[in-house]
Amino acid sequence: MTDHSNHRGYEPIETASIDELRSLQLDRLQWSLRQAYDNIDHYGNSFTEADVHPDDLKSLDDLARFPFLVKDDLRRNYPFGMLAVPMEQVSRLHASSGTTGKPTVVPYTAHDIDVWATVVARSLYAAGTRPGDMVHVAYGYGLFTGGLGAHYGAEKLGCTVVPVSGGQTEKQVSLMIDLRPRVLMVTPSYCLNLVDEFERRGLKAAEVSSVEIGVFGAEPWTDEMRTEIEWRMGLDAVDIYGLSEVIGPGVAQECIETKDGLTIWEDHFYPEIIDPDTGEVLPDGSEGELVLTSLTKEAFPVIRYRTRDLARLLPGTARTMRRIGRIAGRSDDMLIIRGVNVFPSQVEAEILKVSGLSPHYQLEVSQDGNMKSLTVNVERLPDAATDGASTMAGQLRKHIKDNVGITVGVVVTEPDTIPRSQGKAQRVVSE
Ligand code: DLL
Repeated sequence: MTDHSNHRGYEPIETASIDELRSLQLDRLQWSLRQAYDNIDHYGNSFTEADVHPDDLKSLDDLARFPFLVKDDLRRNYPFGMLAVPMEQVSRLHASSGTTGKPTVVPYTAHDIDVWATVVARSLYAAGTRPGDMVHVAYGYGLFTGGLGAHYGAEKLGCTVVPVSGGQTEKQVSLMIDLRPRVLMVTPSYCLNLVDEFERRGLKAAEVSSVEIGVFGAEPWTDEMRTEIEWRMGLDAVDIYGLSEVIGPGVAQECIETKDGLTIWEDHFYPEIIDPDTGEVLPDGSEGELVLTSLTKEAFPVIRYRTRDLARLLPGTARTMRRIGRIAGRSDDMLIIRGVNVFPSQVEAEILKVSGLSPHYQLEVSQDGNMKSLTVNVERLPDAATDGASTMAGQLRKHIKDNVGITVGVVVTEPDTIPRSQGKAQRVVSE
């Protein structure tokens, strides 16, 4: 059992000195490059092509000489081409959804599962969860890493887990009322469904819900959404980040004492930020694509995996380890509207500034000749005046013009008309 009394955090390494951390990372990185190179043909070939060898890594900066791993490499090696251990040592498989083509199969050894549970336990601890707390897990269980990842981590921390999974909103809310969990793990968009269900029953979630901490992730969300959910649910909302290819949830977690972005658990995942066009490594503080290298994974080591998530590396605050600011979105989700780059999360922030509008929205992209145009469909709140729709639409159009820099159409719809998320929200639809 970890002793929590003498240090902040779940494990001492979270607040170790930078020197200690960097030296551990170097040792582990050398091991991880070997694990990949010796056991997986893809890495053997790609390292040789780039004229590098694991022995060339003498300092952390040398990592920049190694080739990137991209999603297509994983697709090409479906299902087991990237497996570094004999299949008998694989104790579990997950798979990333992959909207096009084959999914990516992600194998774990028993040790990998244990590391994963540890980083999720650490994340929950950083979120303010303590042993003995009841944790309601509404991330989907199954091939998706959200449910089982959260589950094993909460158990490892010593919590009572309620493995509800996604969907069945009415039942979820009844269970929350009856069992009285302290912690809720769910996507922010599905949390809004839970809040609405409380309200449909004539209950104010902020008054009747026992939940004090929400651990929200798996999709982009904004500080404005944090304020909205905290106010409506009466809880502290913190961000959790991860991706299947790297391990699942628990790559990075926001600490409740600072709520200032996601601390990367750097003793297991080494981060770099690159220019997505040139591949050049950028200094800390610059905005670019997050690249992650696993330092301890046995079955499925990833070396310089291009996440396509856009982020900035920031110095540590609550922990020694570096943070990433909130993730605005993936490069694939970025819309280009008349030359301006736009993430759905930027529109979300503006919606939540207009009083009378709900957080339920969808962006509709249509093609006007060779130009794309955007319509924001957003519900009014049930208690907002019906005849206020055109005023609200006007306000939102102006906010988006002033702060995002694009002209959009806005349609304010009646309550309960925008499709509800059952997990990750679909924010963009094409005409
Ligand atoms: O979404 C793992 C996860 C489960 C994370 C539960 C957090 C909580 P994938 O389905 O592989 O894995 O999707 C990974 O989701 O590359 C990001 O684009 C996005 N994402 C995940 N967490 C966040 C977050 C899980 N906190 C992809 N903020 C990632 C913004 C996020 N985007």
